[in-house]
Amino acid sequence: MNLPNEKIEEIAQANDIVDVISGYIEVKKKGKSFLSLCPFHPDKHPSLHISQQKQVYHCFSCKASGNVYTFIQNYEKITFVEAVEKLAARAGIELKKNLLRPDHANELTRLFEINKSAAKYFHKNLTDLTGSEREFVYNYLDKRKIEKQLITKFGIGYAPKNWDGLLSFFREEDIFNNDDIEKAGLIIRSDKDENKFYDRFRGRLIFPIFNESDKVVGFGARKLYEDDLGGKYINSPESKIYSKSRILYGLNFAKEKIRYYDYVILVEGYMDIVSLSKSGIENTVASSGTALTEEQVKLISRYTKNICVLFDSDLAGIKAAKRGIEIILEAGLDLNVVSLPDGEDPDSFINKNGKEEFEKYLNNKKTVIDFISELYIKEGKFETVNDKSGFIKEIIGYIGKIPDKIVRAFYIKDIARKYSLYESDMRDELEKVIKENKIKSFPKSSLILPQRKNSSKKEKGEEIYQEEMDLLELFINGNEEAIAYLENNLEIDFIKNKEVSVITEYFLDEYINHGKIELSKALNDIQSEEARVLVSKAAMNQHEVSQPENTSREMLLTGVTGKKYNLKFAKDIIKKFKLKELETQRSDMRGDPSLMNEIFEITKQINELKKS
Ligand code: GTP
Ligand code: MN
Repeated sequence: MNLPNEKIEEIAQANDIVDVISGYIEVKKKGKSFLSLCPFHPDKHPSLHISQQKQVYHCFSCKASGNVYTFIQNYEKITFVEAVEKLAARAGIELKKNLLRPDHANELTRLFEINKSAAKYFHKNLTDLTGSEREFVYNYLDKRKIEKQLITKFGIGYAPKNWDGLLSFFREEDIFNNDDIEKAGLIIRSDKDENKFYDRFRGRLIFPIFNESDKVVGFGARKLYEDDLGGKYINSPESKIYSKSRILYGLNFAKEKIRYYDYVILVEGYMDIVSLSKSGIENTVASSGTALTEEQVKLISRYTKNICVLFDSDLAGIKAAKRGIEIILEAGLDLNVVSLPDGEDPDSFINKNGKEEFEKYLNNKKTVIDFISELYIKEGKFETVNDKSGFIKEIIGYIGKIPDKIVRAFYIKDIARKYSLYESDMRDELEKVIKENKIKSFPKSSLILPQRKNSSKKEKGEEIYQEEMDLLELFINGNEEAIAYLENNLEIDFIKNKEVSVITEYFLDEYINHGKIELSKALNDIQSEEARVLVSKAAMNQHEVSQPENTSREMLLTGVTGKKYNLKFAKDIIKKFKLKELETQRSDMRGDPSLMNEIFEITKQINELKKS
């Protein structure tokens, strides 16, 4: 987009966040801050705090947060550009039309635009189909009970049977060149003549795949014709804007509902999402046939910590479920499992038995333990003592993945009770598993420190240390002297949390290039929603760890925490980072007698640092 930052900033400044939010919901003044019932989750007591001074909002309950733009984007479910237009109009600021035209010099923008055009083309193709092709395709849609309103909601389309349907559409439009369309994965270069191209998707039902911000990043295409020799589904290849491991089909449609119900249903396929939506079950996402990835689970965990996995009960489905279970538990999510009758997936089940029957299954969701034990029973592997011990070992394998000690203890209690086992035996087994997990993730070579650093970065990517939050707060609130000190002394390797590291790089960049860090600009510039949430949280200087017990939320909101974001604060943070770094190195080395000298050296450094 060609919108200059100054313009975005000017418009934001002309629209006071309290005024704007008051236009949508009731806002009450309390002390220096403003409070309201949060519109982004079912809220009984006002938990949305609005800071007029900082022009940001933050919900202490569902963690929704951002600036004036994100508020109306999320409230009205509109795009950033639409939000800019709206607020410009509200403040009487004129926006030249050409400012809003996409910036085609940027490759990513071109890829997004190409996908958007293609999605429109496929969709129009489906609605405008005529003759026998129409009859055939709509017959299929009828058979699968895909009604018009679903076709519209999901932007479902149809790729014609010929080799150059989309290709000639783009040639007529003449906006994008074939190289870019190929990069978007929509056309394929001919083996015989490298100047010739043909359509990737031919004679298929098209599901546009959207990212979280409602932009089309790729397509899933279902086979319709008998003589089509390709797989049941063909998907867009990975591109600069489409990474399979980072996309969940349906998330864009589901995110508000997921937040609202604080719970998500994970299914396998496009069709499942569509059919569940038809029955009004909309807090759903699909992994689309790929094994669930850590990134996908992380994506989910931004919206809720409660997940219900609904996998096909065929063997492949169960295998996928088991892999998924580990990843979900590792991410610390609360997991339940629903298994449907053999041979059914959510789509087929709902179409056969209706919504109510389906909800019965949903209400009957099981814990991981029950799910796995039922599998054992079904396979007749729950008879002998040996069988049972195999089951317990597998279950404890899963429990060992759970990061939270208390949750682990809860599960252990539950199993011990259910299967009349000694809790202490189970705990021993659990300890063993946890140790094994640690060894597996422990680097093999003993002396190469840099590798160790990386490995701890990966392990700890999700956690946020106190110093890291302090650092963000300092960047936002710190005086010139303090930030200059950070610039000279901070090493990006100190930071273990991925989001904090992205934000820090951004802040340093801003400081170096513009000499200052602006909160509202940061909230517009930073792409990752998770990172934005962190920034707003830091701006509110509210974080669980440091919150003194007698500090009221209002005090936190108005910044009355007693912290002085000065040079001393900056020095303290750097010192803490250095200490933590050294201590981690030292504890990684412990237990290896050949490293005595190194350990001694590090201990010396730690003591010196502590004294300084
Ligand atoms: P229908 O058979 O049309 O009901 O689709 P489905 O969604 O039930 O398919 P299925 O349960 O067989 O597979 C689940 C998901 O895996 C699909 O939605 C696709 O995303 C993916 N998938 C299935 N078959 C293929 C295939 O042949 N190739 C690729 N790339 N993906 C597939
Ligand atoms: Mn199906």
